[in-house]
Amino acid sequence: MSTNLQNTEYGLEKIFEGAEDFLPLLGTDYVEFYVGNAKQAAHYYKTAFGFQNLAYAGLETGIRDRASYVLVQDKIRLVLTTPLNSESKINEHIVKHGDGVKIIALWVDDARSAFEETTKRGAKVYMEPTVESDEHGEVVRAGIYTYGETVHMFVERKNYHGKFLPGYVEHHSDYNPEPVGLKFIDHMVGNVGWNEMNTWVKWYEDVMGFVNFLSFDDKQIHTEYSALMSKVMANGNGRVKFPINEPAEGKKKSQIEEYIDFYEGPGVQHLAVATNDIIHTVTEMRKRGVEFLSHPPEEYYRAVPARLQEFHHEMKEDIEKLAKLGIMIDADEEGYLLQIFTKPVQDRPTLFFEIIQRMGARGFGAGNFKALFESIEREQAKRGTL
Ligand code: FE2
Repeated sequence: MSTNLQNTEYGLEKIFEGAEDFLPLLGTDYVEFYVGNAKQAAHYYKTAFGFQNLAYAGLETGIRDRASYVLVQDKIRLVLTTPLNSESKINEHIVKHGDGVKIIALWVDDARSAFEETTKRGAKVYMEPTVESDEHGEVVRAGIYTYGETVHMFVERKNYHGKFLPGYVEHHSDYNPEPVGLKFIDHMVGNVGWNEMNTWVKWYEDVMGFVNFLSFDDKQIHTEYSALMSKVMANGNGRVKFPINEPAEGKKKSQIEEYIDFYEGPGVQHLAVATNDIIHTVTEMRKRGVEFLSHPPEEYYRAVPARLQEFHHEMKEDIEKLAKLGIMIDADEEGYLLQIFTKPVQDRPTLFFEIIQRMGARGFGAGNFKALFESIEREQAKRGTL
C-alpha cells in the first residue's frame, strides 16, 4: 500500500497537498439508480436497508415518462428511477446494464462554475447548466460523464428550501421500517476495463482536481486465482472518495472482469455506507433479508488480535459478535475499521454495498482483501464465472 497521507493531519477541511480544489465539492448530494421497477426497488431499500420515503415524482405529479422515488437515511439520499414507456432513454441504460447507478450527484456551491471548470478541462457534457424552480426556490444542476455511462451531476441548492428538487413532491408512506443506522456515503467504487485505471485516475486529477492518495497493485490484491488493481481518488477536502479498480491477470477470472462482462462496460461497483454501530446495523440487515458474502474462516478471526496488537489498538467490539455476523476487521497506524460486503443487490453480479465503521483507520480494508476476494470467488464459482 502506498499513501500520500502518511505524515499529514487528516480532517474534513484538510486540503490534500496537490489537490487543486477549483470545484470545490461540499459532499455527495444523491445517488440515482436506473432500475426496472422503482416501486419494488424502493420497497427493498426501505425494508432491508431502513431507508425512509422523502420525495416522489411520477404520473401523479405531472411527470409522464418516468417515476422516481427518493429515499433518505441520515445524510444518504438514493433516487430510484424507472421509465414509464418504451421511448425513454432510461430503457437503453437498463437493457444494456441492468439495474445500476446512473448518477453520482455532487453538492456544490456553484454548479455553473463546476460545469465550466470541468468541461474546459475536457469533461464530456451530459447536461448543460439547468435552472429548475418551484415555490421552494431554485436549484441549478449540470452534468458531466465519468467512466462508462455514469454521470456526475453538480447540484447547487443554496437557494432552495424544498425537500429534494423542484418537480418532486414530499412523499409520506404508511409503511416505515426503522432505519438501521446508516449515516453517510464513505466512498463509491468504479470498475473500469483492462488498462483503463490510469486513464481514469488522470481524468479525476485533471478534470476534477482530485488526488490519488492510496494505490494497490495486483501483487497486493490477489488470491491464488484472481487479481485486481485499485487507486483511490479523493477531492480536495477529502469528503468525496472514489476508488477505481481494473482487472488484472490471474489463473482465473477477476471479479472486476465478471462485473464488466455483466454490466457490459464500466460502472459503479459498490457504495460503501458508514455506520457508528456496525453490530446493530448488520444484525438488523440480516434479519431483514440482506444477503452478505460468506463468513471469513475461523483462522481469519484467530489472526485479528495480532493484527490489532501490531498497531497497538484495542478493539471496543466483541470479536465473537463480529465473527458471528461475518464482519471483518482491519487495522493500520491510525486505528481500525470494521466492514462487511453484501452480495450483489440485483440478479446481474454487478452492484453491491459495503457497510463500514471507521474507528480511526482511513484505509479501505487492505488487510481483508484476501479473505474478501476468496469469499467473492466462492460466489463466482457458483455462478460459473470464475
Ligand atoms: Fe470499499
